[in-house]
Amino acid sequence: MYAIGSKKNLLSNEMSDGYYDTVKDLLEHELVQKMKEFTQHGNTSTFQHCVNVSYYNYKICKFFHLDARAGARAGLLHDFFLYDWHTHTRDTGDHFHGMTHPKAALKNASRHFNLSAREKDIILKHMFPLTITPPRYMETFVIVFVDKYCGLIETVGHMCAKLSGKK
Ligand SMILES: [Fe+2]
Ligand SMILES: [Fe+2]
Repeated sequence: MYAIGSKKNLLSNEMSDGYYDTVKDLLEHELVQKMKEFTQHGNTSTFQHCVNVSYYNYKICKFFHLDARAGARAGLLHDFFLYDWHTHTRDTGDHFHGMTHPKAALKNASRHFNLSAREKDIILKHMFPLTITPPRYMETFVIVFVDKYCGLIETVGHMCAKLSGKK
């Protein structure tokens, strides 16, 4: 298992700089694994997107001496909404997935895992400024940038792969 743009095997605790031990119990949970069934951006699954965000949250929080455990764990659960957002509006009439999914993810995550106040803030406000309430912790500001950056790289990578395949 790898994060986008990294050659570090995240299933190795040494290679991942302790990341694996930090999220192992979450990674093995069947509902977290279920995120593999949904597509997030381009051809990236929601699971892979959450791994990407979780790992870079972890590295950046560690670098700045922030709570890397909260960054990694909430990063893995930040899009834990467990539905296909591409058909969500048609299926439910909810036109505001961008604003509503952090609450859905937090509700699911709270049901299955014990979350700290910091982890809840990271999940609930990762779409800031789309969701208006500002982050309370520095770790939440980290995910605000990491999530958008990973989403962009995943989307652009898919578009480039498609374009090069057409030539
Ligand atoms: Fe999200
Ligand atoms: Fe995300």
